Amino acid sequence: MRAAEIADQLTDVLVTEEQIRAKLDELARRVEADYDGKELLLVGVLKGAVMVMADFARSLSRPLTMDWMAVSSYGAGTKSSGVVQIRKDLDTDLTDKHVLIVEDIIDSGLTLAWLLDNFASRGAASIEILALLRKPEAAKVEIDCKYVGFDIPTDFVVGYGLDYDEQYRNLRDVAVLAPHVYS
Ligand code: PRP
Repeated sequence: MRAAEIADQLTDVLVTEEQIRAKLDELARRVEADYDGKELLLVGVLKGAVMVMADFARSLSRPLTMDWMAVSSYGAGTKSSGVVQIRKDLDTDLTDKHVLIVEDIIDSGLTLAWLLDNFASRGAASIEILALLRKPEAAKVEIDCKYVGFDIPTDFVVGYGLDYDEQYRNLRDVAVLAPHVYS
């Protein structure tokens, strides 16, 4: 589904499918150079990262392994607590692995702060982050993200894995959801 097909539900298109594809190719070339000669494990954070992982992994012209983690925030009913619960843990032992966490978006940064802390105790050789999108003005904690696709404003965005009430994940572009949809 393209943004033009649901234009009445969106206000702005922030990043098009074509821009995403070009950016992921660019990041893939950097990752290939940085991880030359090293075993690479991509860790995707479900569910939002599915699209980024699928396209980024296929952009990489090198062997790799892939694993997934599912987490959910809880406490006071909001994700801002930074308290995270593991719903599906990794199947892979991280010992001596070069781990690249693949995320769709860094919003407050609390999910990744928790994940980095959690992974730090698992003996990885290195841990870095690739995030397609980042909202710098929403940061509650600073996250050292080595590979960033696009910095975007704090608007409510959907598409390319990002949802509103589980919808819009299949939108190929990243767009701002029109307020009338959720208010
Ligand atoms: C989104 C996104 C990140 C997290 C970022 O996931 O995929 O994991 O929020 O937010 P933060 O920086 O404020 O912690 P979400 O919890 O919406 O779940 P989903 O991926 O299943 O949609």
